[in-house]
Amino acid sequence: MIKKKVVVAITGASGSIYAKVLFDKLIELQDQIEAVGVVMSDNAKEVWQFELGNQNYADYNQFTFFNKNDFNAPFASGSAKYDTMIIVPCSMGTLGRIAHGISNDLISRAADVILKERRKLIAVVRDTPFSLIHINNMKTVTEAGGIICPANPSFYSLPKSIEEVAGTVISRVLDLAGFEQQSYRWQEK
Ligand SMILES: Cc1cc2nc3c(=O)[nH]c(=O)nc-3n(C[C@H](O)[C@H](O)[C@H](O)COP(=O)(O)O)c2cc1C
Repeated sequence: MIKKKVVVAITGASGSIYAKVLFDKLIELQDQIEAVGVVMSDNAKEVWQFELGNQNYADYNQFTFFNKNDFNAPFASGSAKYDTMIIVPCSMGTLGRIAHGISNDLISRAADVILKERRKLIAVVRDTPFSLIHINNMKTVTEAGGIICPANPSFYSLPKSIEEVAGTVISRVLDLAGFEQQSYRWQEK
């Protein structure tokens, strides 16, 4: 099995719980992973504190955290061969910067690199409703090879907690990223 090198970017959209659930799942899947690099925007830290009431992202020291302006991070260049980038949650601001090639921070630069190298970009976008600008930016990123996987939970697995609700989205993200995992699948035993 080829182990994955994954970039996780967290931005300031609502839904820090999605990033937390992803972190917990990546720890469970560590035998499929070579490296996880994490970058958070300033607003991601604010929203995490507001929505989850803590700064526990700092406890995930299994992963390597990079400053949002650190263009010396390995995944700021295509030569480092990070194969997958997951932006979770992805704000409309970050989506717009990626759609227009504005690589002025590590998140937008890393996404630019993933797209130019034809690797896998998964953007868990979150806002409601969408403006035409948002929709056009999702179209542009999709045409460039990215996957828009909205933070739209499902309920047919009868989730019992907020974490389980968030898990319905993260399970789809992990499938899209190509991880082997146990998860609820509609009409499968
Ligand atoms: C509590 C809170 C919730 C927010 N929720 C969203 C959201 O769901 N979607 C979004 O696009 N922006 C949301 N924002 C606004 C973004 O944080 C803001 O546009 C920011 O500039 C995004 O920058 P970033 O992508 O670099 O994190 C929220 C802000 C706060 C404080």
